[in-house]
Amino acid sequence: MSALPSKPPQELAAWRRLAEIAAQGGGEIDGSADQRRFQRFSQQLGPLLVDYSKQRIDDDIRNVLVELAQQSGIEQAIDELFTGAPVNNTEDRAALHMELRRPPGECRTEIFAARERFLHFAERIRNGEYRGIGGKPIATVVHIGIGGSHLGPELATQALAPAHSTPQIRFLANIDGAAASSALAELDPATTLIAIASKSFATLEARINAETAKSWFLERTCDATALARHFVAITANVDAARQFGLAAENCFPLWDWVGGRFSLWSAVGLPVAIALGRESFEELLAGAHSVDMHFRTAPLENNLPVLLALLQVWNTNFLGTATHAVLAYDRRLRRLPDYLQQLEMESNGKSVRCDGTGAALHTAPVIWGGEETNGQHAFHQLLHQGTRLYSADLIACTTPGHSLRHHHDWLLANCLAQSQAMMQGFDAGDAHRHVAGNRPCTTILLDKLTPRALGALLALYEHKVFCAGAIWQINPFDQFGVELGKELAVPIYHQLAAGAESSERDFSTRGMVEAIRWRR
Ligand code: F6P
Repeated sequence: MSALPSKPPQELAAWRRLAEIAAQGGGEIDGSADQRRFQRFSQQLGPLLVDYSKQRIDDDIRNVLVELAQQSGIEQAIDELFTGAPVNNTEDRAALHMELRRPPGECRTEIFAARERFLHFAERIRNGEYRGIGGKPIATVVHIGIGGSHLGPELATQALAPAHSTPQIRFLANIDGAAASSALAELDPATTLIAIASKSFATLEARINAETAKSWFLERTCDATALARHFVAITANVDAARQFGLAAENCFPLWDWVGGRFSLWSAVGLPVAIALGRESFEELLAGAHSVDMHFRTAPLENNLPVLLALLQVWNTNFLGTATHAVLAYDRRLRRLPDYLQQLEMESNGKSVRCDGTGAALHTAPVIWGGEETNGQHAFHQLLHQGTRLYSADLIACTTPGHSLRHHHDWLLANCLAQSQAMMQGFDAGDAHRHVAGNRPCTTILLDKLTPRALGALLALYEHKVFCAGAIWQINPFDQFGVELGKELAVPIYHQLAAGAESSERDFSTRGMVEAIRWRR
């Protein structure tokens, strides 16, 4: 990112000032002392109300954080992102996923045409016009893909599709054969569409699962020509998809400027479009686009993705939080912690700055989380009385997706109570019952879980991650760290599968390979 300052973040004046404030114990809050905190530290952005008044900041800290954003060159970084500069500097690529959600009149012709093509295809599957072999409509779509080619589509489908919608959508991501067996169980190949989403078309899980699905299909139909009606790919590697046996017309394109974890808005979202229909998918895009516009134009002090990134930096680098909990207070959002785990940890889990020098500071926290009040009866004990400082986001919806109003009121009451307990704690006069409080958290309230609101929420997080990366001066768009494990798995696989003598040099891996072989 060329706009980044030449100085490391720690040498910026605002960073030093924040370090002083933190060293002097700044950032303690007393929720009852300042009744206007909510007005000052919350903001409505379209369908999202973001309350960060339970974060450990005051006006002075917020001002210095905004100065940090200025000194970090955030405005120029945003400009570079949107104008297609190679912000993914290690791979010399732009990151233009925002282009995928532009409205028709503003969208590049090639992108618009690709969107129309997959939305049209989705509609034909939905309304039964598209027929499989034997002239039957498609009853089940099995979406094969992992990481960014899986989490966004599954999250959006679970969040927005009515229960028992048709066609049924199943997701197959994991390499575990149990996942493949259950994804294909009891399906009729004549009414099944297999959608293989893999930008590279080289990812092990996608490849092996696609091959398994192909064998399953051919064994039952004995008709290789039928593949064309029942398999489609969403990929940037059309050659590999063709080698797999798909015709070019069965492939929906992806571009190198769409990172996997930012690809929901492309044809990777095909299952979402099939589950929800064109209009809702366009609403999802519109919600994200509205946040793009906010991010591009709002001044830094009101720019929510920037503010959320600054809070993450404040918590991580000055208050010493090591983990960040994503607490989804809505069952429909139960995949959100996993989705954000990839978005944040694969993007900003780095220790090298863009210029190749060591980051010498903490970057992305460990992201983890859970669903609703289940977590309260499991890990919230540690949140309230554990020894480690963390930060949290609690996400809830004003309106439920069901008619059991009192359940929803209890759910919201618990959500608010948890954040209240995190902030204010409880002085019981008894060490065992004492709750320290002062745990920084943000609550995000969606008016209603609509496609527009979900699109806005996810774009908010995407841009937050970009800004945090820019402040830490790391590249959020590569993920070289995942490669080593993939490479190491290849020889181990051959030792297990072919029964050859283990050639592993390390004692533990060799011991385990031999143990597995002996026990078989
Ligand atoms: O292994 C990491 C990763 O490359 C992610 O970044 C990506 O979302 C996922 O694998 C899937 O990649 P592909 O879409 O190329 O199969």
